[in-house]
Amino acid sequence: MRGRAAEVLAATEPVDDVPDSFVAMLKGRFEDRAGPRFVLFLSGGATAAACYDRAAERAEIDWSLVDVYLGDERLVPPEDPDANQRLVREHLVDPLGGVGSFTPMATEGDPAENADAYDRALRSLLSGPGIDLIHLGLGPDGHTASLFPLAPSLEETGRLCVATEDPSKRNPHTRLSVTYPLIDAARQAVFTVSGPEKHEAVRRIRDGENLPAARVASAEVRWLLDPPANGGPSW
Ligand code: 6PG
Repeated sequence: MRGRAAEVLAATEPVDDVPDSFVAMLKGRFEDRAGPRFVLFLSGGATAAACYDRAAERAEIDWSLVDVYLGDERLVPPEDPDANQRLVREHLVDPLGGVGSFTPMATEGDPAENADAYDRALRSLLSGPGIDLIHLGLGPDGHTASLFPLAPSLEETGRLCVATEDPSKRNPHTRLSVTYPLIDAARQAVFTVSGPEKHEAVRRIRDGENLPAARVASAEVRWLLDPPANGGPSW
């Protein structure tokens, strides 16, 4: 089984406030960055939005040095309420008045061509500064980015970005998603997990189930989860 999530999760204590812990980690990684700039991959979802609101308020870092990419996207128009690029703009880029750069995924036109275009951008990134931090969420089914259970994208070993969808149809829209080769190239991955609806997925990963999130094998993988997600008392 790839990835060390079960081992890492077994040693992980819950945090009181996931967005605060995310900001503290982001700040630490920024200060310890490998090069002059900081390459940051972001996610969609409500937990991510809360983390980005807090980062925009409190993360005292030089955002002009931060180059932002997306880990996945729904194939909807940029201004669609379900668009991850809209979420990142509304919760981080716009409140900050801008970041070093933001590279969204093309979402209109042919999905395969959009995936190819982002794949090319990612190859250029990996042959250059690489990735300092990728922020990932966890779905109740154990998905992360748009890598869903039983999807062919889980077995991709060559491409860095693919067009994909959820075989179970529980998660809407055709998607673009980075693949494990991209995620595993990151110097660090951080999962943010909040709420009792995620406990079952967390428990299954802790028990060694090879869910998509469990397969992440970046150089360093950290989990930030609150007590309800960890299986503790729900507030
Ligand atoms: C997406 C996300 C997805 C998300 C998780 C958690 O595009 O939907 O990238 O991977 O991070 O589903 O989302 P919530 O925090 O909303 O539960």
